[in-house]
Amino acid sequence: MTTLLRNIGELVTNDPTWGDQFGVINNAAIEFGNGVVTWVGPDADAAARARGAADLIDIAGRAVIPGFVDSHTHLAFAGDRSHEFAARMAGTPYTAGGIATTVDATRSASDDDLRQLIRGRIDEMRSQGTTTVEIKTGYGLTVEHEERLARIAREFTEHVTFLGAHVVPAEYEGRADEYVDLVCGPMLDAVAPYVTGIDVFCEDGAFTVDQSRRILAEGSRRGLRTHIHAAQLGPSPSVPMAIDSRVTSVDHGTFLSNDDVVALADSDTVVTLLPGSDFSTRQPYPDARRLIDAGVTVALATNCNPGSSYTTSMAFCIANAVREMGMTPSEALWSATQGGARSLGVPTLGTLAVGSPAHLVELDAPNHIHLAYRPGVNLVRTVWR
Ligand code: NIG
Repeated sequence: MTTLLRNIGELVTNDPTWGDQFGVINNAAIEFGNGVVTWVGPDADAAARARGAADLIDIAGRAVIPGFVDSHTHLAFAGDRSHEFAARMAGTPYTAGGIATTVDATRSASDDDLRQLIRGRIDEMRSQGTTTVEIKTGYGLTVEHEERLARIAREFTEHVTFLGAHVVPAEYEGRADEYVDLVCGPMLDAVAPYVTGIDVFCEDGAFTVDQSRRILAEGSRRGLRTHIHAAQLGPSPSVPMAIDSRVTSVDHGTFLSNDDVVALADSDTVVTLLPGSDFSTRQPYPDARRLIDAGVTVALATNCNPGSSYTTSMAFCIANAVREMGMTPSEALWSATQGGARSLGVPTLGTLAVGSPAHLVELDAPNHIHLAYRPGVNLVRTVWR
């Protein structure tokens, strides 16, 4: 059974076959069935397909884009930190220390409470056009609780990332290296059946460069995609180590140096920018223009979490990236779809070409520029996944 969308005003495919990396086709049609895209082309060529389609939908000149790939989230949490946000807006700086508040609330929540919270956040994301979501652990920080978060997160997505190295928990205060032993050994053994990636928060108040290197090396040894929270709160010596460790992505990158940018451009590492955090912590925004001009692959994600970025909206991130980070609307959409897919190591996501997953979004707008042009408005009309 196939579905054929006709009379699409603007179809963004991210398939270079159609001219450039954005692969925009005006007056387009697209067909899909059994979960994959089966045909893409100009609407004028779709008449023959229309005769065989089980379901024919007239898009009436609106835009269709690939579903958003939100490649960096911390959705598995309980509790509320809105007062911390309010204090920040009154001048208190963001620090890694707030994570402990969420650890307490998350450990106290039942499995079903956590399922309900994650379900609600994913529904909110889906209604705003997100069709792929990565979920990190990181608010458990014991073998038992990290295993529980990974197991529950796996019920919602196949892209689960182990972040046992989020902060050193209170029980290990002054014994960070012993905690790293736990992360690299029994904790990683416990989460292994559920996770496809590993991450570490390398920052003052979290983990050092040497500790992060160990954790990433152990993740690589076990065949996991590797990520690092780096240069989030200040300049950091972590980026050369991360590149040397061949990480899949460096995330945040708010305070990258020129040398970092040159080294990243010379690597396969994706830089995942998270403008929701810079917005919610009143930090400067990273310079995406500098990264793109240097040739770095940039992804955009929400970083949905209760401390530094409690948004589920990829369109909000796109609007900020365009307004504050020097990206064009086309670049921002590419980074929120194909960029995210690359940072998850699954480039067939975030593209609309024959054989790619049928994850599509119809916008209530004539083109994708409206995602940044109409900030704060949910333009998503239909989501197919
Ligand atoms: O990506 N940096 C570490 N983790 C999250 C924040 C977590 C929190 O404050 O609860 C982040 O910003």
